[in-house]
Amino acid sequence: MLHVESLHAGYDNLRVLHGIDLDVPAGDLLAVIGANGAGKTTVLRAVSGLIRPSSGRVTVDGRAVTGLRAEKVAAAGLAHVPENRLVFPSLTVADNLALGGWTRRSSRLTDDRDRVLDLFPRLRSRLAQPAGTLSGGEQQMVVIGRGLMAGPKVLVLDEPSVGLAPRLVAEIFAALARLRDEAGLAILLVEQNARAAFRVADRVAVMDRGRIATKGTPAELAGDDRVQRAYLGGGYSESSTVD
Ligand SMILES: Nc1ncnc2c1ncn2[C@@H]1O[C@H](COP(=O)(O)OP(=O)(O)OP(=O)(O)O)[C@@H](O)[C@H]1O
Ligand SMILES: [Mg+2]
Repeated sequence: MLHVESLHAGYDNLRVLHGIDLDVPAGDLLAVIGANGAGKTTVLRAVSGLIRPSSGRVTVDGRAVTGLRAEKVAAAGLAHVPENRLVFPSLTVADNLALGGWTRRSSRLTDDRDRVLDLFPRLRSRLAQPAGTLSGGEQQMVVIGRGLMAGPKVLVLDEPSVGLAPRLVAEIFAALARLRDEAGLAILLVEQNARAAFRVADRVAVMDRGRIATKGTPAELAGDDRVQRAYLGGGYSESSTVD
């Protein structure tokens, strides 16, 4: 569903990505972890058209989108939930969600919104509230919900758990698992919170200085001493669940 091949990208004279290969089939969640500055956000920006790759190939649902502008990539079926959790603070939750669906036929909007509210029931009683007055976790739900309103096939998220209480992180990750399992979305999740990511991911890619250093299932990588020490602090166990 999302296919990334030999992606190179950066900023002005700074080369950041040195050949990234990633594959996320429908119904699959790939987590990307790595140290600060490894290039995780840059991967998402280059995939979603916010920056232009210098070379490589990106396809969404079989369509080549390499080098297309973000709105074209979105139209091909990719929703990008960026890291800064930006809602339109003075607009209501309902209007924030509606903005994500502006390209959709109005007959679908109600269904789409119902699905978002089913996924994030907390938002239902807050539809008329200005989004800026929500808690951080609720704002994260609005931003994810807004992305879903466009009816994507691929969802990419940049550190949705940052600054949230564990219970909210668990709620958001449980919603991602449902989107994967019930809606069959392909999900690419960038996370600092490696332990939470390991619990939900089907596969994990570890980035180091613009490259994928290693890839595998959470169980495989948890058995890797280096990964264990650097990212899991010795605390991951295979039987952990998302709650
Ligand atoms: N807009 C920009 N202009 C110039 N350089 C940038 C820009 N954004 C990021 N960089 C640089 O690109 C490199 C990779 O940054 P990136 O944000 O992709 O890392 P990251 O893995 O997401 O880090 P973090 O975990 O801190 O979010 C860093 O050296 C960073 O300083
Ligand atoms: Mg980042």
